[in-house]
Amino acid sequence: MTVSPQFEFKNGTLHAENIPLPELADTYATPLYVYSRQALREAWSGYARATEGRNALICYGMKANSNLAILHEFQQLGAGFDIVSGGELARALAAGARADRIVFSGVGKQSWEIRAALAAGIKCFNVESAAELERLADIAREVGVRAPVSLRVNPDVDAHTHPYISTGLKENKFGIAIEDAPELYAWAAQSPSLQIVGVDCHIGSQILEIDPYLDALGKLLDLIAHLAGRGITLKHLDLGGGLGIRYHDETPLTPTQLLDPVFRILAERGLDHLQVILEPGRSLVGNAGVLLTRVEYIKHTEARNFAVVDAAMNDLMRPSLYEAWHDVEPVTPHSNTPDRSYDIVGPICESGDWLARERTLSLDQGDLLAIMSAGAYGFSMASQYNTRPRAAEVLVDDTRAHLIRPRETVQQLYACERIPPA
Ligand code: LLP
Repeated sequence: MTVSPQFEFKNGTLHAENIPLPELADTYATPLYVYSRQALREAWSGYARATEGRNALICYGMKANSNLAILHEFQQLGAGFDIVSGGELARALAAGARADRIVFSGVGKQSWEIRAALAAGIKCFNVESAAELERLADIAREVGVRAPVSLRVNPDVDAHTHPYISTGLKENKFGIAIEDAPELYAWAAQSPSLQIVGVDCHIGSQILEIDPYLDALGKLLDLIAHLAGRGITLKHLDLGGGLGIRYHDETPLTPTQLLDPVFRILAERGLDHLQVILEPGRSLVGNAGVLLTRVEYIKHTEARNFAVVDAAMNDLMRPSLYEAWHDVEPVTPHSNTPDRSYDIVGPICESGDWLARERTLSLDQGDLLAIMSAGAYGFSMASQYNTRPRAAEVLVDDTRAHLIRPRETVQQLYACERIPPA
């Protein structure tokens, strides 16, 4: 059975590219994040094909997975980056990113973060409120530069996704209400320390339909036309991230399916001089990673069968937080035990600590399981709750494995803490 082209069963054992996963578990122990370099490259090539010959920039939404090795891989492939903090700015630059390909999103940019981004010379600030626009103008004036600005507008469209990852609705905290945008653009146009460069939106994540994107695009284009009438012209249009992936049986859109109509509509409206920016995160890394974990205990109770594994909600938070589905593959499937319906749970002291529920599997203690599609929002959302060191991360390239982040040690977890004198 093929799980994904880079995570396949060969001779009855699940591999990452050409390395059997049990080998990685033996070398690096579990829980372990395993990424496929080839899968990263193929995901990128989907965007590269969709934008070939076009004036477009793909800014990797690095919150999905911000390991330097992953950032460096995308940087080498030509990506820009969508950042949401001063920390992400530092990481992107440390991975070799070009500042003039960085866009800075987020509702709560602090002054130090704005200063750092101005000093680096980023491509643009995606501004999310009037108050932020004022702060940006003040700081830029003080520093003596013109800050490149795009307003993140909230187009009030429903992306039909989980409420926690839907961002383009009126009730969300994100963006500037589209009807308030013209006034703010006019204000920015008057400000000597601001330079208007674009408009952007991000309507949500794990989006599986094209209509929400096209609805948002339509609203942005009306805004662009209105601004042009007031003498305000833009250089780029940023549609955010959000393309979904297959976690189970979804049929995601390809970058081409999203972008072809976008380019066509821009041409029809005479706006093909605008650079098109996307900020994909999940669709570049989600299916390029698995979380490898070992069954510690099998526990049958009156109500349920539990497989207690060594990974937990601190390693992969998505099931606890969004009730998200991740496929679970036994790494070396067998039929030593009867098929039973298992809840795959971690060792953390919370009932919400589960990775999958009611999966029919034949399991033994000591078995390895791969939690699939864990490359996005897996490690990047991990915590050290219950004083659990965060997992190691490995990048596989054909038959070679590169340790891209060693497992934290327990001692590291409290090394910075101080006991005050009595
Ligand atoms: N741009 C902005 C402004 C964003 O807020 C996000 C994600 C992205 C781009 C990238 O979106 P993507 O292509 O990955 O859908 N933790 C959640 C997802 C939260 C997404 C937050 N914003 C999850 O695990 O499903």
